[in-house]
Amino acid sequence: MTTTKEVPALALADITCRFAARDDASKAYTAVANATLNVARGEFVSVVGPTGCGKSTLLNVAAGLLEPSSGTVEVFGERLLATAGVNRRAGYMFQADALMPWRTGIDNVIAGLEFRGVPRTEAVAQGEGWLRRVGLAGFGDRYPHQMSGGMRKRLALAQTLILSPDILLMDEPFSALDVQTRQLMENELLALWAEDRKSVLFITHDLEEAIALSDRVVVLSAGPATRPIGEFRVDLPRPRDVSEIRMTPAFLDLHREIWAAMKEEVLKAYEQQKAI
Ligand SMILES: Nc1ncnc2c1ncn2[C@@H]1O[C@H](COP(=O)(O)OP(=O)(O)OP(=O)(O)O)[C@@H](O)[C@H]1O
Ligand SMILES: [Mg+2]
Repeated sequence: MTTTKEVPALALADITCRFAARDDASKAYTAVANATLNVARGEFVSVVGPTGCGKSTLLNVAAGLLEPSSGTVEVFGERLLATAGVNRRAGYMFQADALMPWRTGIDNVIAGLEFRGVPRTEAVAQGEGWLRRVGLAGFGDRYPHQMSGGMRKRLALAQTLILSPDILLMDEPFSALDVQTRQLMENELLALWAEDRKSVLFITHDLEEAIALSDRVVVLSAGPATRPIGEFRVDLPRPRDVSEIRMTPAFLDLHREIWAAMKEEVLKAYEQQKAI
């Protein structure tokens, strides 16, 4: 018998995604093949893989934005059908900003609450709280174009977390930031995550970022027919400072081990790109 505790927050089982091929629409391109991936409750899982391998595709499947050609998605034990709508237990943070340029900071943060019908005064009160927590107190009346890249990411994080999703789906959210800002954001994400340990599926092509943040790192093969080829538990102590943990021997050992599994796939993807 399985208890509720063992039911994963997110279970992708045997997922295959085919798209029409670029050069000939009658042919199919298999981006992802037979990929199985679970995220336990409260677990922080990163998925790393070379460029173009199918990371965003997998995340879109988990979000219920893309129906896989075959395979199933279960969210806390319940079958997710993209045809029946998006994954309502999940919050999604994209690589590019999903901020609304015509809305001020506070109005961006509370947008989701407003769509849910929360009265404005209550939404604003909650929104101000979130602006404070992400270090943007006093910036609520600025528009996104009046903010730096790092501030916009903080705003997007508040916009996602205010809805208190049980699962956080993040697609290379910090890749556009400079190294210092990025490490600050990674530490902030970890601090917020530590407060109530949601389940996180974090996509990145940066192995260091994956190890520094996660409980587990899943490595994807190069495409086509991408699938997980390795899984590594990250037993580094928490709380972590992402810039300090990178210097520790345990981190470096793990990095060496995972990179050995990843290197060939990265080179394969690079050769494929050159051939295009
Ligand atoms: N809607 C689509 N139609 C056709 N092909 C697609 C579609 N979506 C993705 N693909 C193809 O599937 C493959 C995987 O794409 P995906 O965006 O998931 O890769 P990725 O690992 O997220 O890449 P990146 O590292 O550049 O973000 C690519 O070859 C891409 O061209
Ligand atoms: Mg992507």
